[in-house]
This record gives sequence, C-alpha cells and structure tokens, in this order.
Amino acid sequence: MLDLVVRGGTIVTIDGVFDGDVAIRRGRIVAVAGPGILPQAREMIDASGLLVFPGLVDPHVHLGHRIFLDDGWVSAADDFATGSGTAAAGGTTAVIDFAIQRDLDPIATVAARRAEAEGRVVIDYSVHPALTRTTPETLDAISTLITAGLPSFKLYMIYRKQGRMADDAMLFNTLRETATRGGLVGVHAENAPIAEFNTEQAVRQAKTTAMDFAHTKPSDVEAEAINRALFFAERSHGTLYIFHLSTRDGLQLVGAARARGVKVFAETCTHYLTLTEGVYSEPDGHRFICSPPLRPASDVEALWEGLATGVLSVVSSDHCGFDMAAKDRGRADFTRVPNGLPGIGARFPVMYTHAVLTGILTLPQLVAVLSTNPARVFGLYPRKGAIQPGSDADLVLIDPGRRLKISAAAFDSPIDWSPYAGMELSGWPVMTIAGGKAVARNGHCLVAPGRGRGRFLTRQLFPRQPDVPRSRASAGDERMEGTDP
Ligand code: URP
Ligand code: ZN
Repeated sequence: MLDLVVRGGTIVTIDGVFDGDVAIRRGRIVAVAGPGILPQAREMIDASGLLVFPGLVDPHVHLGHRIFLDDGWVSAADDFATGSGTAAAGGTTAVIDFAIQRDLDPIATVAARRAEAEGRVVIDYSVHPALTRTTPETLDAISTLITAGLPSFKLYMIYRKQGRMADDAMLFNTLRETATRGGLVGVHAENAPIAEFNTEQAVRQAKTTAMDFAHTKPSDVEAEAINRALFFAERSHGTLYIFHLSTRDGLQLVGAARARGVKVFAETCTHYLTLTEGVYSEPDGHRFICSPPLRPASDVEALWEGLATGVLSVVSSDHCGFDMAAKDRGRADFTRVPNGLPGIGARFPVMYTHAVLTGILTLPQLVAVLSTNPARVFGLYPRKGAIQPGSDADLVLIDPGRRLKISAAAFDSPIDWSPYAGMELSGWPVMTIAGGKAVARNGHCLVAPGRGRGRFLTRQLFPRQPDVPRSRASAGDERMEGTDP
C-alpha cells in the first residue's frame, strides 16, 4: 500500500505545470499521475488550490556561522536545528552549508561540521569544503573528499585577515584538481588588496558608516575577481561557480565566458534582487551589511535580466543568522559588523512575488532557480529537485493566494529581524514534506528540537573516475553534460 498521496494539486516542474497527484512510499516518490488515478494511500493530503513544487534546494547557507572580526568571534543566533527548521518552514528540503578549514585539515573540518549537524538538522544537508590553506596536503584532500561525495569546494578570494582567503595558486590548482577528478570550485569573488586598501583608508578618514562600507567594495572589486577566476577556469578546464554575484559587470563577464564555452555557473541571492544600497542610508542600515554589498538599482535590474536570460542559474539565500545585537555592535563602525543576512525561510515568497507575479519568470523557471538547477549543479539531481518516480519524496505545497506582510515573526527563529520586513509577499508554503513526512506546516517546523532526522547527502557531479590520469583532464567536456542545468 502507498504511504501517502498528495492529490488535487497543481504540480510545477521545470517541464511544465499540470494538475496531478503524487504517490509516496518509503520516503520516495513512486508515481506521478493525472488527477484521481492513484489508489488510496494510508494518508491522503488534499492539495486542491495549491501549487506542488519539488522541495527547494538552497546551495548556499551558513547555519550556526561564526566570524572572526578584529575584536573577536561573533556567532550567529541560529544553528543547524533552528536554521534548518526555518528552512523547512520556508519550503526548503535540502541545504548545502560549508565546512571552512581553520585549525583542522579539510577532511577533519568536514567531520567536525557533520558532528554539529547530526541528530539536529531537520532536512537533508551537505557541505562544501572551504579550502583556506595553500599546501600539498590540502590539495591531496580534494580527491578523498570527492570520493566521499563532496565534489564542490569553496574558495574565498577575500577575508585574508580572518584566515579564510585562498590565494591564486590555491584557486588555480583546485580548479585543475577538480577538473581531473570530477568536481567544481565555487568562489566568493572579491579582490582582496583593493577592498583591504579601501577599508584601511575609510577607517583612517573616519568614514565607517554602512554606506562607507559599500563604497569600499565597488563593482570593480567583484568584477576583477570574477574575471580572474574565469581565466583560471578557462585555462584549467575546471568548472567554476560564482557565489552571490551582485553586479552588472560580473554578469557580463559570466555571460561572455559561458558564450565562449567556459564551464561556469553563477547564482545571485534574494537580497541582491530585492534590496538596493539605498538601505545603507537608513538608521539601521548597518544591519544590511553583507559581502558583496547591496548594489545600486542599475545592478539589481541587470541581475533580473541575468535570471530571465539564464546567465544566472540559481537564486540562493546566503543565509547568515546574525541577530540585531550581533549586527548592532557595529552601528557606528562597519568593521565591527559581522557580514551576512538572514533569509533562509523567505526565499520562496520573495521570489514568487518579485519574479513570478511580475511576469519576469514563469513557474517552471522559478522551480529551476530555486530547486532543480542547484540540485543539478551540485550533484543532487534527480534525487532532489524533481517530482518523478525514484526521487526523494520532498515536496512543498504553496498557497499562491496567501499574502502576508513579512516580519521576523513570520518564522519561529532566534533571529529577531528580517531584511525583508515590511514587504507584502504572496505564495507562502503551507506544508513541507521531506522524505515523505510533513516537517513544516503554515510557517512552523513540526520537528521537536533535537529530533532532527536530516541525512547527510553524498553527491556526485560526473561518473566517478578517481583513477583518470591528469593528462586526460580535457575529457571533462563531455562529462559536464550531466550537470548543465
Ligand atoms: O556577507 C556574507 N556573504 N556573509 C556570509 C558569510 C561568510 O562569511 O561568507
Ligand atoms: Zn555565503
């Protein structure tokens, strides 16, 4: 007998929108059929009037993040339990966080990060190992991590003082190594020397407001770093992913590179699409400090074009859960503000309202950027990002007619503010099903604290070929097909 049938809904996938029912057994989808065809299940969920999406995949989140600033460590207010609970309430059923190398080697760093998540995270998760040390040992760890199901690496091109920056040698070598072995390199693309110089000069001149922060990182800071990373990707035949692309200049570089065959994907985030640098002039503008900074309206416009034309493949949250107290430590001095914005729960209604109701994206395009493309790019498809037999039974039921003014109170979360507060948003998740079980309803996570059963997801980008000699790296072209959204 079937465990569950979700019936009567309007199913949305990248291939189209149709009325139908979804059958689930033992945590997997076993059938998708026209209305009323499937047999009775132990549980029937009536989805009439609702949109049924595959569970959303957020490939860029920082749960329980800790940042080292000049005056010490600052911790986010959430952790794997509360952050993933908010994700579930917002319709997300898989997240990819980070394991940022600091004192341990990359493999031990991943183990430590998994220990923080296990038994607490309420949805399935994985991590991108973030490599911060240019050493032969770090490069050697890449093949072990890929074989263990972690084929995507993050390299920070900035944050030198925080011990997180990977230099150009590391970037080039990691691209070469992943090109050979089947993986990709995601970059936080900002030019470190220019941003550092600008910051020091701003501090010397006592220009430390939130808007001063934005001016330390103009468009050129992002564009130069993207250009450099693209050069390395092109020369190494590696696959590059640009995290949180925020500018027209960056977009043009990525578009041109894709047109000449460079294997590059790029994401932007909900905040770069819906907020402008104008917020930095407001009284609480320092709370919106993130890197790259929010941009002028002309960049925002370009990002929407990039989404509509497909140059941008993904919209992530880059969720970073600093509460008001953490942000307010730097009210008068941007160097004391931990960078990053919360947003893991708001991604669907923000995008449904600003992208679909405005006619910029169709529903299938929305499902692409929020679920299917991130699943494909990061090696989770078709387990995630699809409504088809064999896929995990991860679904989100959306009420397109539900309209709410968003506030921090929209979610049960220790984060006491929202960058989107005050926005009237439509398209709220009313139920999130993960592995065939309801994990959230009407904005509330149903999983008790400490009872999270999210699984660690191993991922694979191409057929695994650990023994391929390096001289055959150029064969990467055809192996790429499986991941191209
Ligand atoms: O400002 C951003 N993007 N913060 C995210 C967390 C980090 O440190 O990368
Ligand atoms: Zn981030």
